[in-house]
Formats: sequence, C-alpha cells, structure tokens
Amino acid sequence: MSGEQAAVGSLPVLEDLGDVAGKRVLVRLDLNVPLAEGSDGKRVVSDDFRIRAALPTLQYLAAGGASVTVATHLGRPKGSVDPRWAVEPVVERLAEMGARVRVLENLRFSPGEENNSPELVASLVEGQDLFVNDAFGVMHRSHASVVGPPNFLPSAAGRLVEREMAAIAPFLSNPPRPFVVVIGGAKVKDKLGLLASLMERADRVLVGGGMAFTFLHALGHPTGDSILDREHLDECRQLVSSSPALLLPVDIVGAAPGVELAPRPASGADAVIEGSKEEVRVYGQGLPDGWKGLDIGPATSELFREAIAGAGSVFWNGPVGVFEDPRFARGTFEVASAVAATSGLTFVGGGDSAAALDRFGLEGAVDHISTGGGASLELLEHGDLPGLAALRENALRHDRGELGSPNRERS
Ligand code: 3PG
Repeated sequence: MSGEQAAVGSLPVLEDLGDVAGKRVLVRLDLNVPLAEGSDGKRVVSDDFRIRAALPTLQYLAAGGASVTVATHLGRPKGSVDPRWAVEPVVERLAEMGARVRVLENLRFSPGEENNSPELVASLVEGQDLFVNDAFGVMHRSHASVVGPPNFLPSAAGRLVEREMAAIAPFLSNPPRPFVVVIGGAKVKDKLGLLASLMERADRVLVGGGMAFTFLHALGHPTGDSILDREHLDECRQLVSSSPALLLPVDIVGAAPGVELAPRPASGADAVIEGSKEEVRVYGQGLPDGWKGLDIGPATSELFREAIAGAGSVFWNGPVGVFEDPRFARGTFEVASAVAATSGLTFVGGGDSAAALDRFGLEGAVDHISTGGGASLELLEHGDLPGLAALRENALRHDRGELGSPNRERS
C-alpha cells in the first residue's frame, strides 16, 4: 500500500458522522498560536492562521445543529497549570470570529495529555456523542486527546485535516519530478530520519539554516561559532557520503565576533538589507574563528533557486537563515521567491517558513501552507501518523460494533 493510500484513502470525514443535529461533539483542534502582549498588558493572539483554518469544521457542525466542545493545547506547559498558557486569548479570538463553542482549558495543563492517560481520555469523552479530530498540527503526537477518543466515540477527520491530506498526498506517493526538498531550521537531530528517508525519494535535497553547519563541520570545514550538534556529526557524514541528492551550502554569510542579532518586524523591501562589511561577510564553506554563519551565501542561493525553478514539485520546511534579522534574510528571501515563482507543485510546512512567506508578501503564491510543520515532516518521513491511524481504526471498530466505554476498558 502506498503512503497516499495508507494515510488518506480510508479516513472517515464529517459526512460519515451522519446527522449531527442535537449531538454533543468533542472537537480536537490545534489552536497552538503565537501570543503577544497587547497594549493593556493582556495576552493576545498575534497570528490567527490556525484559528481561521479551524473554522470550516466548526461552521459545518454549527450548521448541522451540533453542540461543540473544543479541546486544544497551547505551548508546552509540561503537565502543570501555568497561567501564561491559559487558552483565554484563543477563546476570545474564536468568539470574535463568530464561533459559538465551549472551549476546554489547555490540555497540556494535565500530565495525562502527553502520557496518553486513560483517565484523561475518559474525562474527555464523557458526555460526548461524537469526536472530530481537526488538529493536523498535532497528529504526529500519541497524546490522549489525539489517539484516545476514537477508541470510544464515532469519529471523523475535520475539514482542515482533509485539506492538509489532499495537499500532501502527491508528495507521499508519486511527486511530479524532479522532486526537490528544501530543509532548513536550526536543529539537525530532528531532521536526520527525514533526510535519510528522503534521499531515496527526492531528486534534490537542499539543506540550509543552522543545521547545515553540522554537515559542513562533519566534512572538515571550520564553522567558527556557528551552531553545531557534535553528537550527530557521524550521521551527517554518512548521509553526505551516501547520497548524491544532498546539496549543502557552497558559501555562507557570516557575522563578525560580537555582532548581535537585531530582529525587527520588517516587511516588503525592508525585509532584506545588506549589513556593513565590518559586521557581515560572505565566506566559502568554512568560517574563521569567532564568526557565526547566519545565512546561505549568494552562490548557494543561486544553486537553490535553479533547482527550485526546474522542479516538478517542491516541499519546503525551515528557513535557510536568520531571516528575522534583515541582514541575514537574503537566502530565505531567495528560496521563498523561487518557491513562489516555480510552476511546480509547492507545499510549505513549518511556522517559520510560513512567517517568512508572510514577511516577504509571498504567502498567496504557493499551493499550500501547512498548519503542521512537525506533522507534515513526520508524515513525509513515515507515510502515516498516530492520529490518522486512530481515526481509520475507529471506522473499522465502529463497523464491527467494537467501540467501548472508557470505564469498562479501565476496569
Ligand atoms: C506545533 O506547533 O507544531 C503543534 O501545535 C505541535 O506542538 P508541539 O510540537 O508542542 O507538540
């Protein structure tokens, strides 16, 4: 079975729940959104992309006459109550958008969420008739609210999950060739499994961002003060030697010793500026002592641009430089512009890549911006996710009359 068939084919969807009038529906959403401090010191939602993305499911259920309880996580409070991560700002924004729903407090205030505790699952499904999982961004987590309710309630994927799955499906089975992947971001360890699995499927894997320095160091290049993961040097070396598809930066934009990052909320032409020669210089694959690599250089941008321009499909996750500082935004701008301009099929995942597109005014120019960076990477790597598998299993259990009561299972 191909990844596409496994992950998409048999997912139950909202229509499979039948008539929802008068039904109590538990809806798992991923409303883990960025927050900022408002003028009155109150926490406010600073980017409501995920809230807007959840509305079609809520509208469907409201139109059908269901009574909806929303459950979400927010941040990583690690199993204890932390007022900084209370869901109030999210509730306010949902209400402003016209959603008439009850919202449970942050699921991750309970240790049971991440431990997948049967007690938490039981309390979530108690009094509910149906379950909808529309939390694509958390489908890769085997958490209580993701994998638990489908054991007990007739369940379905929501509209966002349907849309995400339709967008990623071609990348799981037979992506139009050449299939080009651009991977950036700081942490190499999170992406080694994905890179290994992609080497066999992708025609080109372009690596930028902080993670590239562990690869360059593994190949013997001095990387100055750049971010480095010493524990994964061997794996990086092996990947490079075994895969001709991998393309590393051939030049780097370095910051002089002592240069502080200066992120600023710039957009349009201001989003990219040149730094002074004392502070910012382009080097080859090696950097002098004390210098820190913060962006790919112009020759690398050109190589990446050419690969993306000629692609049949492009999957992009992670900025290739510290684009929040306009002096180190050029590489990410070039990648974003190339992804926006290519005639190939494009899928962008990860909050930072989406934020970069937004900053450069290019968000409307790609085929799909995913609400789930980690989830889409894991789906690409493994072809399936725990939350999706739980929904498919639910459909089978339901057909066999095997949905249990949580209390019975626990005794
Ligand atoms: C995300 O922001 O990627 C999702 O909400 C998942 O959050 P997590 O990485 O904290 O599980």
